[in-house]
Amino acid sequence: MKGVVLAGGTGSRLDPLTRVTNKHLLPVGEKPMVQWAVDFLRGAGISDLLLVTGADHVEDFRQYFADEVDYAIQQRAGGIAEALGLARGFAAGERIVVMLADNFFSAPIAQVVRNFERQPRGARVLLARVRELEHLRNLGVPRLVDGRIAEIVEKPADPPSGLAVTGVYCYDADVFDVVERLEPSARGELEITDVNNHYVRDGSLEHDVFEGYWGDAGESVDAYYEVIERVRRPHFGADSLRPVRLERFADGRGWLAEIARTSSLPKPIRQTNVSFSREGTIRGLHYHERGQDDLFVCLQGRARVVALNRETGETFCEDIGDDNFAAVYIPGNLAHGFEALTDVLMLYHVTEEYDPADPDEHEWPWDDPRVVELWSTKSPILSERDAIES
Ligand code: G1P
Repeated sequence: MKGVVLAGGTGSRLDPLTRVTNKHLLPVGEKPMVQWAVDFLRGAGISDLLLVTGADHVEDFRQYFADEVDYAIQQRAGGIAEALGLARGFAAGERIVVMLADNFFSAPIAQVVRNFERQPRGARVLLARVRELEHLRNLGVPRLVDGRIAEIVEKPADPPSGLAVTGVYCYDADVFDVVERLEPSARGELEITDVNNHYVRDGSLEHDVFEGYWGDAGESVDAYYEVIERVRRPHFGADSLRPVRLERFADGRGWLAEIARTSSLPKPIRQTNVSFSREGTIRGLHYHERGQDDLFVCLQGRARVVALNRETGETFCEDIGDDNFAAVYIPGNLAHGFEALTDVLMLYHVTEEYDPADPDEHEWPWDDPRVVELWSTKSPILSERDAIES
């Protein structure tokens, strides 16, 4: 699978910020906008990348990426599908994932790519929930029938659903023939929505719904600033739990295992705690707001780690300890905790020091209906602080 990063266009919606450079080179957090798209694709395992942009700023991109990516030049701003058409030679018969370089997601997009890999043919789009009607009117919006996309309407006056087509598209190699047959739309562009509707008619357009935050920084100056505000929040882009298998190096004396290396963690460890919990205890749930993440390791016994994305409702559950020697890295914005399935000795590394004067510890009910079925007990031993119920 190859990746195509679309970074062209005139940037008129971000005028005057775009008078001297391409929209996708404007800063977002600690890096240029386009670097985020490259990182999202690389995070999904796609490293062979083509960047498509206009002739006026291609040298700026070359200065930034050098030979990290390939380049294709779009002679005029003729639409997303026209830009995509320039990737035919690069794709060389392989499947591609296309990403608009002004799109931002609060979590990895790897799942849509994995799902596309399992899909025998056709195309796949990533949808996101958009609440504001006015916003939907500026996007591509699918009409769904029995859970499948029956049509995508570009910039609908009357949006047929509360979902938007984001700027992540997966295509079979035949997409270039589809692009060649397109006619320009009323705005004089080759529309990506017309490409996607071809696959709808063909019966081979699949979709995933992204449940986190999605933003298009290219829509307006306000949208650009909203994305900047989002990415600067402490846990942006990291809201899923990561189990890390640990290896025991054994010899005649016993064994040794490396628990954590700061260089392989998203953030450095600042404090380490150990606790003993009696079987049937639940510690948590709680979450942190100032950027603290935790690395849990069960040193003895068995523990069930449970986490909940409070915004999207996504849950995580992993049993670690005697039968599964693993650490679990938990972004602290998730409500998280663990259950002692036996008496357990737990070690936790945390990325912020505990401040007794102003603790960054926020309780969340252990029996939130979205996680309550994940625990093995219905009557846990709880601390007074954890005993809040939903
Ligand atoms: C484009 C697509 C639209 C999609 C949006 C996502 O819109 O045409 O279907 O919802 O990207 O960012 P444009 O940015 O060209 O208005």
